[in-house]
Amino acid sequence: MAYERLQQFGRKIRWGMVGGGFDSLIGECHRMAARVDNAFDLVAGCMSIDPEIAVSSAAKCLVAPARTYTDFRKMAEAESRRPDGVEVVTIATPPNSHMAIAEAFMSHGISVICEKPMTSTVEDALRLQALTDEFGGLFMVTHCYTGYPMVREARALVQAGAIGRVRQIECDFVNGSFLTEEEDRKKRHWRFRPEYMGEEAILGELGAHCYDLAAFVSGRYPVQVSANMTTLTPLRETADDAHVTLRYADGSLGRMWLTFTAAGLDHGLSFRIAGEAGTLSWSQVKPDELKLSRAGTYPELRSPGHPDLMTTAGAYACRLREGHPEGYILAFANLYRDFAETFMANALGEAPHHLAQYPHLESGLETMRFYEAAAASRQHDGNWVAIGTET
Ligand SMILES: NC(=O)c1ccc[n+]([C@@H]2O[C@H](COP(=O)([O-])OP(=O)(O)OC[C@H]3O[C@@H](n4cnc5c(N)ncnc54)[C@H](O)[C@@H]3O)[C@@H](O)[C@H]2O)c1
Repeated sequence: MAYERLQQFGRKIRWGMVGGGFDSLIGECHRMAARVDNAFDLVAGCMSIDPEIAVSSAAKCLVAPARTYTDFRKMAEAESRRPDGVEVVTIATPPNSHMAIAEAFMSHGISVICEKPMTSTVEDALRLQALTDEFGGLFMVTHCYTGYPMVREARALVQAGAIGRVRQIECDFVNGSFLTEEEDRKKRHWRFRPEYMGEEAILGELGAHCYDLAAFVSGRYPVQVSANMTTLTPLRETADDAHVTLRYADGSLGRMWLTFTAAGLDHGLSFRIAGEAGTLSWSQVKPDELKLSRAGTYPELRSPGHPDLMTTAGAYACRLREGHPEGYILAFANLYRDFAETFMANALGEAPHHLAQYPHLESGLETMRFYEAAAASRQHDGNWVAIGTET
């Protein structure tokens, strides 16, 4: 979003948060991302399930006591009654609560920025789609890795035909952050407690990112999935390792390896997308390096900050000059920037910048279709299951 748009809008967007308090992992990333372009003002929050932490988190963020809440439904009602109530709310709570929170705010006409996985079921995702259509607001799902300059560059290169027709898609999230499990069930993280998102929660925690990223770059969704999953960590009750094969409508195959148990690997998100003429490779631990390997010549290593060499979509996502590393928060901030640009342009009755793009509700809905189909496949010993995407 250009400063001109902010100036034209004349003020920041009145923004609230549900979850994302100082007892959370991801909350501060949202706040940092929202600050980058100066477009959001955090004016209200119900920031934790723990009332004391909800109050102390809001106080730390300078949210007024009168607009600090310990119940998200009361927040939605009270804010919708104020002439200066929140216009957008970020939901950064565990996934099984996203639906109820989104519904509470959207039914009052408040736009939503929602963490992934968007909901617990396809049915809920479809309900949110209908609600969004009804009130005409915006819904973003924070598939945050799509904000990296080199990920947007990869997508634009595929669209421009740089690797020819896409034939193979591989995306891995081989994480090594959760190698042991708590003895005491109550101390286990919700990610590993089946009552939150089922035994297949890994499909939402890691799979949603991979699935969305592969689709974002390649421009295609698969039609069938076969998932084999297992639990490698003693005491754990949910699957923590998944091998997923995907079939596309033209018969080509894709693959994803999702795991929390890759000892020594801190993050582990990467993709390789091969076409008839070349292959694109990217890894989030070196996000400024996009490798474009074309048949018959040496590979090129593309990097951000070169507007004359990059695609316009890739250049639009860069914040810094060449040689200055872009990072996770700036990638996350690109989602917030593009959402703000669209929100403000809509309010002004204008078209948003043609390069502004953020993950719409539909990208969250597609990950839920994948989630349900892959979970069903796992329950049937890895049989192929139709994903149900409308192509
Ligand atoms: N985009 C990413 O890269 C990324 C990274 C990590 C987590 N996530 C997603 O973000 C979401 C939150 O994950 P996390 O790791 O931060 O979880 P967390 O358990 O660390 O934090 C959850 C937060 O929500 C609060 N909360 C829970 N229920 C609430 C309610 N009813 N009302 C108000 N607050 C409530 C908790 O108190 C806490 O502040 C999940 O959907 C997760 O998948 C996304």
